[in-house]
Amino acid sequence: MTDKFGSRFAGATARAGESFPPLPTVRAAVPKERRWAPSRSADHVDEMAMAEDPIFGEGSLRTSAKLGPTGRPLPIFPEPPPLDRHGPATIIAMCNQKGGVGKTTSSINLGAALAEYGRKVLLVDFDPQGALSVGLGINPHELDLTMHNLLMERGTRAEDVLLKTNVPGLDLLPCNIDLAAAEVQLVNEVAREQSLYRALAPLQADYDLMIIDCQPSLGLLTLNALTAAHSVIIPLECEYFALRGVALLTDTIAKVQDRLNPDLHMEGILPTMFDARTVHGREVLSRVVEAFGDGVFHTVIGRTVRFPETTVAGEPITTYASASTGAKAYRQLARELLARPARVQQVGYRR
Ligand SMILES: Nc1ncnc2c1ncn2[C@@H]1O[C@H](COP(=O)(O)OP(=O)(O)OP(=O)(O)O)[C@@H](O)[C@H]1O
Ligand SMILES: [Mg+2]
Repeated sequence: MTDKFGSRFAGATARAGESFPPLPTVRAAVPKERRWAPSRSADHVDEMAMAEDPIFGEGSLRTSAKLGPTGRPLPIFPEPPPLDRHGPATIIAMCNQKGGVGKTTSSINLGAALAEYGRKVLLVDFDPQGALSVGLGINPHELDLTMHNLLMERGTRAEDVLLKTNVPGLDLLPCNIDLAAAEVQLVNEVAREQSLYRALAPLQADYDLMIIDCQPSLGLLTLNALTAAHSVIIPLECEYFALRGVALLTDTIAKVQDRLNPDLHMEGILPTMFDARTVHGREVLSRVVEAFGDGVFHTVIGRTVRFPETTVAGEPITTYASASTGAKAYRQLARELLARPARVQQVGYRR
């Protein structure tokens, strides 16, 4: 099939739909020098990812010959330069119809890490479960105005719904179960897939990045997120069934590109919950890199109990456990993202 995402994803969509080959095939496909060595701890992935890190790495090994956790040479992602003005925002959809893969965790912590680097970030809770709002310490059931009002009521402005978080530079558009009704009501709207974009557009000049936390489905809400976005991040849990359904997701993204949003880019696949201690985890990561090549972020998020803890605490890991490997991983992801060319140069880029 035609690849919609340029060379980085060439051939990936078709292969992603296949079931896993037997593990020995995967082993044979990875050159010996690029295979995983047995690791010491769950944090090993972060240690490897940080090995060359100019900020956090022990000894800051800057040689690009060093392999990162994905088995590729790990680039050095520079500290992002400070900005003297903000906006227009690049809009990123955090999307995977598979549940529990780290969409919400990645939205919160990538957003918080970007804000630490001086970016103005808007997190958009676009899952009626409201997990992103809860993860930032907000009780979604006590809110008067949410994403539902913003989408469905002409009189509601984004500024009325907007909440500040405890992280400077990080704001939130919260949501709760009311949004589930919006999905039904939107079906009868004109240009129903563009509703979210219309709601976010007035805020685009005020932020550098917006991150939309999608629900685990490919329904109308997710189509709205993909239509509003410049790019998509697909978090992928490093477990056996990780690639199941990714072909359906990339096909959906391709259709949105064709019909609704030709500017939509694939930002990358983000491996999450990676446990470097297990052969299984390493094999799955190899398989993901084999399928998607440079479409996979160099940054890999390790599995650690600190993330569930942060949900209970209601704050990002970057403030809850600032020196933890999880916080460092999301800071590295932020630098990896910011090291790329900006997706948007001016407000009103599309419509
Ligand atoms: N790297 C990680 N290590 C360990 N646990 C994690 C990690 N990332 C996320 N989790 C935990 O896994 C669970 C699911 O994560 P999360 O809610 O971010 O996934 P999701 O894709 O948003 O789920 P849903 O599809 O239900 O919206 C949460 O309990 C979260 O704390
Ligand atoms: Mg979620």
